[in-house]
Amino acid sequence: MSSTTDASTGRAQISERTLRTDRWWLPPLLNVAGLGLWVIYATVRAFMHAYYFTNEQNYSYLTPFYSPCFSVGCYPEASHFGQFLPDWWWLPYAAISLPFLLLFRLTCYYYRKAYYRAFYLSPPACAVAEPHKKYTGETRFPLLAQNLHRYFFYIAALISLVNTYDAVVAFINKDGSFGFGLGNIILVANVVLLWLYTASCHSCRSIIGGRLNHFSKHPLRYKLWGQVSILNGKHMQLAWTTLASLAITDFYIMAVSAGWWGDPRIVG
Ligand code: FES
Repeated sequence: MSSTTDASTGRAQISERTLRTDRWWLPPLLNVAGLGLWVIYATVRAFMHAYYFTNEQNYSYLTPFYSPCFSVGCYPEASHFGQFLPDWWWLPYAAISLPFLLLFRLTCYYYRKAYYRAFYLSPPACAVAEPHKKYTGETRFPLLAQNLHRYFFYIAALISLVNTYDAVVAFINKDGSFGFGLGNIILVANVVLLWLYTASCHSCRSIIGGRLNHFSKHPLRYKLWGQVSILNGKHMQLAWTTLASLAITDFYIMAVSAGWWGDPRIVG
């Protein structure tokens, strides 16, 4: 190893890329695999325009990938909020919500860390030099737009309300009777996880507890901030768990609506 000190920064100039001897490359590699596979699956499903609603069955499960279903191509029973989008093959049926959900996750503080490291190697890991010569961080366009995360948080919270509505109406069978099966449990679990992920957002924490000079004068916000802060500590785990729960929920509904698997009914 050869090293000198950069006089302007006082930092050591080490010729080796890294002195780490552990498997520092494993987390970015897993992130490439996990995020890459999920994006491929979600893209295929978003454009499939099929197997998103249990149309043949008496119960009504709608996958979150197609909610709200605004296209005129949607099954009318799956369109809880109207149909006004044209039915074009390149336009997802949930074309209003999906871009905002994507932007919410793309600008998420955790995912930024994950994909900057995994895909852009900036840097690939702590104490591992990045290949880029110049670093402007998020101070310029387009990465400056990462600051819009707070606004995507508000929209994502609204979409979580829609997903909650979908999970609740799924307890009403098409003949009007009450019923539930394994699919309802999966839908409800997914919605609970989505809310936990949304509430654990750094922007949510700052909206609830930020811009206060005295916590003592705002006991309710202080209490909420404390609880959101606990969730915030689990944000990375919730980010991955919700990716898994979204894919599992969607796959389950695809399997039931395609007739690959019958939903075990507990009631009705
Ligand atoms: Fe991850 Fe807001 S920081 S969703």
